[in-house]
Amino acid sequence: MSKYIVNGNNPLNGKVKIHGAKNAVLPVLAASVVSGRESIIHNCPMLSDVSESMEILKFLGCDAVIEGGTAVINSGNLVTDEVPGELMLKMRSSVIFLGALIARCKSGKVTLPGGCEIGPRPIDLHLKAFKEMGIEIEDRGGIISCDGRNMKSADVHLDFPSVGATENIMLAATGAKGVTKITNAAREPEIVDLQEYLKKAGFMVSGAGSDTVYIEGSDEGKRTEHCIIPDRIEAATFACAVLMTRGKAELDNVCPEHMWAFLSALKECGADITIKNDTLRLDGKKRIKAVKHIRTQPYPGFPTDMQSVFMSLMTLSDGTSVVTENIFKDRFRHVDGLVRMGADIVTDGNVAVIRGRKKLSGATVSANDLRGGAALTIAALAAEGESVVDNLCYIDRGYEKFEENLRLLGADIQRK
Ligand code: UD1
Repeated sequence: MSKYIVNGNNPLNGKVKIHGAKNAVLPVLAASVVSGRESIIHNCPMLSDVSESMEILKFLGCDAVIEGGTAVINSGNLVTDEVPGELMLKMRSSVIFLGALIARCKSGKVTLPGGCEIGPRPIDLHLKAFKEMGIEIEDRGGIISCDGRNMKSADVHLDFPSVGATENIMLAATGAKGVTKITNAAREPEIVDLQEYLKKAGFMVSGAGSDTVYIEGSDEGKRTEHCIIPDRIEAATFACAVLMTRGKAELDNVCPEHMWAFLSALKECGADITIKNDTLRLDGKKRIKAVKHIRTQPYPGFPTDMQSVFMSLMTLSDGTSVVTENIFKDRFRHVDGLVRMGADIVTDGNVAVIRGRKKLSGATVSANDLRGGAALTIAALAAEGESVVDNLCYIDRGYEKFEENLRLLGADIQRK
């Protein structure tokens, strides 16, 4: 298992370009199944989750190649409507292929991904909506078979604005006659990106970014060229790393309007940030103040995916911060590692209280999930002495060339 060896306490200085968004590219790759035509997707991050999605596409019968951040997929000749268990289990978001297969083949079969590092990941909301659309579902020991021959458009209401459920319903609905309406839909920028892709692919989709999304089914897919939005979580990770190490850096290819909750929290902490078009400039000369209370929420609230890196930053702030995690049950798994580095954090259920310290010290820690692993890595960059961050397989799922980009900014970090 690979690990990082980090010699910390070096300010990160310079410039780094943010990649395309992992959470946007995965549903768009699945959506390429729907059109039955060629899709050219630019600004794809080169991540293990993206490679797994390309494997699924090839298994389904698509021509699928990716090079230099551009994926070219032709879904003209599908050979199966089933994603086998071994491919499904590698990546939780593979469940999004179900909606795409139902739209295209009027049937689909997948193995449930089950729980994951950050807590249970049920798909009851996806399946409830599919049933309302007339899709028949059979669950045999976690193998879900869907029959969409009698599928129709419907008005579906989500009890919670789930990102994955919204995307899955949008994809399935492209294959249902009439207009499907999703209320209490997730409003994340990645949903808007999926809408933009689907519109270019010939489908009438509107409302993404608001809580009501409309999708009109069609059989007429088109050749599509699309560019993935920048990764707001990668940008937040680098921003926290720069501020924690008291560096000064510029992040390019950022979409600041996707990051208001995070940027507003940074402003509350007195961070020196300048926003110019798609560039974020950060100056960490001053020590950051604590934040009063961060609560993770669906977009446009503070994102759960930024909670761990933000908590890392708070460990070195002046004062006491409170963080409440409202989205996932088990998302404080980075706390033990941070405490090992000398952070003062107490948790009770989904609440963490962080008393800022003046310094952290190097330690041996293990990534237990993707964003938690990133949080430990940036803490190691700010800590005095050597740290080892183990279990990099998690970090590789979400950050392209993470250590290379950090080294560009002057970090002393090696993969062993
Ligand atoms: C997506 C993101 C993930 C992010 C999350 C929340 C991708 C690939 N992943 O995950 O990085 O952390 O949104 O912003 O885009 N839930 C149910 N039943 C369901 C579906 C969800 O109870 O059928 C619950 C989940 O257990 C969780 C909450 O709803 O507690 C949010 O989940 P959801 O928005 O669906 O997250 P994902 O789409 O899995």
